[in-house]
Formats: sequence, C-alpha cells, structure tokens
Amino acid sequence: MNSSFRIGVVGSGKGSNFVALADAIAAGKIPAEIAVVLSDVESAGILAHARDRKIPAQFIPPGKFRTKLDEEAERAFVSALQSAKVDLIVLAGFMRVLKGDFLRAFAGHIVNIHPSLLPSFPGLEAWKQALDHGVKVTGCTVHFVDAGVDAGPIIAQQTVPVFENDTPESLHRRIHAAEHELYPQCVVALARGEISVAGRRVIWKKSQTCSNPYIFT
Ligand code: GAR
Repeated sequence: MNSSFRIGVVGSGKGSNFVALADAIAAGKIPAEIAVVLSDVESAGILAHARDRKIPAQFIPPGKFRTKLDEEAERAFVSALQSAKVDLIVLAGFMRVLKGDFLRAFAGHIVNIHPSLLPSFPGLEAWKQALDHGVKVTGCTVHFVDAGVDAGPIIAQQTVPVFENDTPESLHRRIHAAEHELYPQCVVALARGEISVAGRRVIWKKSQTCSNPYIFT
C-alpha cells in the first residue's frame, strides 16, 4: 500500500470518527497513514484510541480561550503537524474554531465533518438544532475548512431521517453512523488526489454524475 500520504487527525471528543478512519486505513481502503493525533482535551477518547493503535498522540493545552486556540497553542498545533509532515488535516470532532496562522499554514489542506446538512445548523449541537427546528431530514457534511464557522466548500453530504420519537441522543447516534461511512469515503478521494475545488464547488474527478464513488462495502 502507498502510505506516503500523511494525515494528522485533530479532535476533542470520544474519537469515533478517528476510529472509523483508522479502521478503513488498516483494512487497506485508504492509501494513507495517520502520522499524528492531536487534542485540546487531555482526557479525550481520541487520544486513547490513537495510543491503542500505536499512533503518536499528543495533548496540547488550548490556552485561555473557550472557543479558539490562543497564540501559543496555535503555534504548538501548527508545529506538531508540520513536524509530522502531514499532507492533510482531518478535524474529527474538534470543538474550536481555527484562525489565521493555522489556516494559512495548511490552506486548502484541512477538512472537517459537521453533524448536519450545511449550510443548515452550523455551530454547536447541530443534531439538537435540527430536532428543535423540526426538520424531517438531516445528516452530515464533510467540507474544507476556511475562516468561516462550518462554512468552507462542501466535499460530500449524507442524509439521515429524523423520526418523531427521536431524542437528541438517538438522532446523534444515527448521524454518527452516517459520519463513519462518509468521512473515510472522502479521505480516500483526497488521498488519491481526486478532489478539486472550483470556487465553492468541489469536483470529484472519478464521478460522472454524483459524489461519493467510494462506497465501501
Ligand atoms: C461528530 O458528530 C462531529 O460531527 C462533531 O463532533 C462529533 C465528534 O464525534 N463535530 C462538530 O460538531 C464540529 N462542529 P467523535 O469524537 O466520536 O468523532
């Protein structure tokens, strides 16, 4: 397997999207390796999952702000990712907004997964926002990261039905399951250089008619 494509995963939470990605790589479905996993939360499950898999994992204190990294933390994240020589940064449940220097250091090479069909319900607890709004269909979105909040060009989306008896937890579980399918499908295309961007539109080179030609079975 060609594993010269190096991925840095950054997350704050339990790390189920990291696990889905690491499993797809281990199964030979993605020509890439995870070079490093970083978190702003010392006790985050994502770090434990990475260490279980013998993948370098590091906690970096986020500094004094609640919703973004302070300057020192930003420098530490950028430096750790540059030292690991990553080609792509995969945000997997990272709960802080990335700003100037981080974005400039890896422009066009940062992707995120968000638990709604963007541009609906950006921000926190998107599954709860969808439930409270009363939509009948929601889902998840993989997108490039730019200076906006959950705003960059959309790579792919997967829909999820909302049921009348859903709770925030049951809906988030269903969205999570969709995320675990969608994110690896996007990362394989990125690793193969088969994704290009024209303005806000993301083009999947292999696909004639629609996105997501890499449906794993
Ligand atoms: C996922 O649902 C992801 O979409 C969401 O956090 C969860 C992380 O789960 N991300 C955001 O809300 C970012 N705006 P995980 O830690 O199990 O992968």
